[in-house]
Amino acid sequence: TYVVIDNCIRCKYMDCVEVCPVDCFYEGENMLVIHPDECIDCGVCEPECPAEAIKADTEPGLEKWVELNAEYAEKWPNITIKREPPADSKEWDGVANKLETQFS
Ligand code: SF4
Ligand code: F3S
Repeated sequence: TYVVIDNCIRCKYMDCVEVCPVDCFYEGENMLVIHPDECIDCGVCEPECPAEAIKADTEPGLEKWVELNAEYAEKWPNITIKREPPADSKEWDGVANKLETQFS
């Protein structure tokens, strides 16, 4: 399974949803998550994210993101079509500690 990690927060480019063959992205106000039971592990989305915010869950240190993706994929609505990213998305690219300060 692949997971969305912190740099998606407030960048939210949504390029990922265009390429996912099984439409397993779910949308919160400030970020997306991947449904772990629906992701087929194809890896197509990882290089498409301009914020490098998609990782394989086999990478070390991603435990909290694995949990967060699983939890919110059950709560948030599915998203399959890319919209305009936030106007300030580039300003948020690479900002530290977004989970603690910006997550909602
Ligand atoms: Fe979708 Fe493939 Fe990315 Fe999983 S790895 S979220 S199936 S594009
Ligand atoms: Fe987020 Fe990257 Fe998708 S910033 S919305 S994971 S393209």
